[in-house]
Amino acid sequence: MSLSHVARGAAGPALPSCGIELIDVAKTFRRGTRAVQALRSLTFSVRPGQVFGLLGPNGAGKTTTIRILATLARPSAGTAIVAGYDVVRQPQLVRRVIGVANQEIGLDLRATGRELLTWHARLWAVPDPLKKAEELLQRFGLTEAGDWPVRTYSGGMRRRLDLAVALVHAPKVLLLDEP
Ligand SMILES: Nc1ncnc2c1ncn2[C@@H]1O[C@H](COP(=O)(O)OP(=O)(O)O)[C@@H](O)[C@H]1O
Ligand SMILES: [Mg+2]
Repeated sequence: MSLSHVARGAAGPALPSCGIELIDVAKTFRRGTRAVQALRSLTFSVRPGQVFGLLGPNGAGKTTTIRILATLARPSAGTAIVAGYDVVRQPQLVRRVIGVANQEIGLDLRATGRELLTWHARLWAVPDPLKKAEELLQRFGLTEAGDWPVRTYSGGMRRRLDLAVALVHAPKVLLLDEP
């Protein structure tokens, strides 16, 4: 299936060592004796400051692409660079500079929004975790819901909290799968 993209934002020359650079990326999955080619020779680049959308029908390879950029899957061939780091050779460095919101929301439903944001801020050693949580609750319109358990949140509120969690450590590159 085919993938296409739309790009918005900063114009100007590409900076190969920043943003995102995919060169001839392929991904093949084994399913029993069959090989499923999820990506074939995918090449694109995203400049710093650019908002980039990857479009394609179900099964086109969008999630696979994001998982490769997030170091959750290894490309079968090709090169993927995120903020100047190679996802295969420097996965630890990539993980430090990315924020990820996966297609499936991964939040602890028993915790409150404020608790989750504070925990993540602590994990990332953000200087003032409580202040950071407050800031993000406000930014995403969740101040009132901050002390409610996440299981009482609507789908949209959970999505907003998921996004806030992905931003706790001020990542250079934000990867969003069907936000
Ligand atoms: N872990 C996996 N094992 C086998 N096949 C997979 C796996 N993940 C994805 N695929 C296959 O790869 C193709 C692309 O899937 P995906 O990247 O999830 O597409 P999209 O997100 O664009 O809907 C599909 O054919 C899917 O079935
Ligand atoms: Mg998907």
